[in-house]
Amino acid sequence: MFNFTNFLKKIKLPFFANFEIYFDLGTSITKIAIKDKGVILREPTFLGYNSRIKDYSFIGNEAKTILGKTPDFIKVVRPIVSGVISDFDAEVFLLQKFLERSVYLYSGNKMIKPMMIGIATVPTVATEIEQKAVREALLKIGMSQVFLIEKPLATAAGCGINVFSHEPTLIADLGGGLIELSIVGSSGILSHKTLKNSGDQMNKVIFNYVYLKYGIILGEATCENLKIDILNFKNTEKIVVTRGKSLENGLPKTVKIKSSDINEALRSNFNQIIDGIKELIESSPPEVVDEVMQKGAILTGGLSRIPGIDKFFEEELKLNVYCSDKFEYATINGLMKLTANEETFSKIIIQ
Ligand SMILES: Nc1ncnc2c1ncn2[C@@H]1O[C@H](COP(=O)(O)OP(=O)(O)OP(=O)(O)O)[C@@H](O)[C@H]1O
Ligand SMILES: [Mg+2]
Repeated sequence: MFNFTNFLKKIKLPFFANFEIYFDLGTSITKIAIKDKGVILREPTFLGYNSRIKDYSFIGNEAKTILGKTPDFIKVVRPIVSGVISDFDAEVFLLQKFLERSVYLYSGNKMIKPMMIGIATVPTVATEIEQKAVREALLKIGMSQVFLIEKPLATAAGCGINVFSHEPTLIADLGGGLIELSIVGSSGILSHKTLKNSGDQMNKVIFNYVYLKYGIILGEATCENLKIDILNFKNTEKIVVTRGKSLENGLPKTVKIKSSDINEALRSNFNQIIDGIKELIESSPPEVVDEVMQKGAILTGGLSRIPGIDKFFEEELKLNVYCSDKFEYATINGLMKLTANEETFSKIIIQ
């Protein structure tokens, strides 16, 4: 069995620092952490490509800010789609810049690069080629060794679940690129289901809804803000005045958009998630179903912040539903937790 701490000791050179670096390569947000320091970077997985200089001019926060406001020669690029790398070179560039902004600040002597071990998550549905892309990207940015684990295990651990116990737990990670529904336990994933009607796709649904109902074209960032600011499952009617481009004459037009509009637009997305959880439970063995029904389900990921989503899911699923409090960092915190014990960690590494 491979022992990565022994490996570290073997390769240790006197003037090199050893770092274990954790990566949550989220479709919307990239998180990077280092051992004993915790999360040191959280930035949008966005870049701005400048075709005039044939290089990336905007990275992370700045690239997300310019979304919808760029001249023709700047294109916003999202290197991760549905939880996997879709633009390898862009992802390598982004990660390199993120390392410079975060990890290198902790590595002491800037002239000497630290010896880095990369530990990252991949979606359960990622193919071998998609896993290889993550490995290659991390090796390319200077990791001397890369370890991968399935994302739901890390996310569950970050929500306080002991993934090595034989009690199954249902966890729903409602992210930007994927809705990952999993039952974890006994050091593995007992069953899983992945849906693509995630946060990003919901922004597109909002775009279409507003286009058809109010006759205006909204920007991508505005659609996302509507979801974050006014969507709720508590019957609280919030109204926002939104500006877009009129379909009739192309001029700016102002409309009032209500919470109930966004609820109506996204109703079928959320129904699909609820059906997905029901199917996941139904397809599991009887003992697992029984324990899951007693224990309830955990919601995490960005969409778990929607006010009232726990009660709404609870009523529809007829089981207890809890939202994790550290939803933003569940996956990366879980990675750090899981590596703390090298013996148990070695059991869950993807070989
Ligand atoms: N308060 C909120 N209300 C509604 N949606 C939210 C809220 N906060 C974030 N989101 C949405 O959550 C999504 C991002 O979630 P998260 O950070 O879990 O994704 P990710 O980890 O980057 O993606 P993935 O794990 O799917 O690859 C985005 O679509 C964002 O719009
Ligand atoms: Mg995520």
